[in-house]
Amino acid sequence: MNTDNLFKPFYLKSLHTRNRFVMSPMTRACAPNGVPADDVALYYRKRAEGEVGLIISEGTVIDRPSSANDPNVPHFFGQAALAGWQKVLDGVHDAGGQMAPQLWHGGIQENHASGWLPGTSFEGPSGIGNGRRMSDADIADTIGAFGRAALDSKRMGFNCVEVQGAHGYLIDQFFWPDTNWREDLWGGKNLAERTRFAVEIIKEIRRQVGEQFTLMIRLSQWRFSDYNSQLAKTPKEAEAWLTPLADAGIDIFHCSTRYFWKPEFAGSDLNFAGWAKKITGKATITVGSVGLQKDITSLYRGENSAAASLDELVRRMDNNEFDLVAVGRSLLADPHWVQKIRENRMEELLGFNQEALYSLV
Ligand SMILES: Cc1cc2nc3c(=O)[nH]c(=O)nc-3n(C[C@H](O)[C@H](O)[C@H](O)COP(=O)(O)O)c2cc1C
Repeated sequence: MNTDNLFKPFYLKSLHTRNRFVMSPMTRACAPNGVPADDVALYYRKRAEGEVGLIISEGTVIDRPSSANDPNVPHFFGQAALAGWQKVLDGVHDAGGQMAPQLWHGGIQENHASGWLPGTSFEGPSGIGNGRRMSDADIADTIGAFGRAALDSKRMGFNCVEVQGAHGYLIDQFFWPDTNWREDLWGGKNLAERTRFAVEIIKEIRRQVGEQFTLMIRLSQWRFSDYNSQLAKTPKEAEAWLTPLADAGIDIFHCSTRYFWKPEFAGSDLNFAGWAKKITGKATITVGSVGLQKDITSLYRGENSAAASLDELVRRMDNNEFDLVAVGRSLLADPHWVQKIRENRMEELLGFNQEALYSLV
């Protein structure tokens, strides 16, 4: 197998990666009181030493009172947390990697199993379950908090920044009609209208970081409440969703799917990242069961996954369907996964074992 195209460098504004592999953002909840410590820094450094091109941090929450539902999820605000992230970043840079924080607001979420609750109730577009409807002032402050976090990431020397717009969290809650019932500016009958909240966040970030800092957004059709959901049912709906985000300043669409090899819409072989690239002309990241036989939902059933061939990934990369490839569980289990591929040690790729979740390997 010729994997050369996976090992070509990639340049886009402030991002200069040595190859096309990206560590997918993965929450580890190992940052007591929101502060990533030396064990977290070592965990990310090992992936950079293992030759990952771009590391996207686990979701790290912005400065809103109920942006996290877990006290061990890292913050991206406050002196102690940012000092912790600076150490993480310095370690990754030392080892030749590049890094982005994934800026996250969980929106209305289930209470954490431990019983821990943020000081104030969860917030989202509409008052649903244990959450309350955000006021205009809440929305304005949230947009500002995303902007401040992005500016901090640039000042600290991160190579780019990612906004978490996927998987049913705050931004995604605005996209969907069953979680966004608003009849004001922030709601709407169609997806284009409900994209306004994300658009305003992206515009504010762009205003803060300038034109040359690479800006990514993660989007998904699936969400935790329904693994088979489809927000955009046709390429035309996808266009109404993605185009305003591209116009607002997104450089890279990170298209989260469960299986990267699945066509997104009938009548074409293109996956979600392929469609996003075709529709917007922007760079894209594909993700979903790269190097693994089973998808992310198997993790929630407590299952391991055997390794799978990279032939189809190589075929699609060679076709230029997307620009970058994010890898989640394979890299969580094995920091040397990318290096092994470069050295053609395919028989050493061992797949994913649940045990990797229990510590920062
Ligand atoms: C333990 C774990 C935590 C995750 N946390 C996040 C997260 O914080 N943000 C995010 O966008 N995706 C998160 N994901 C999804 C992954 O980034 C990725 O999209 C998914 O695992 C599919 O890739 P894979 O099949 O290579 O594992 C998480 C996945 C796992 C396994």
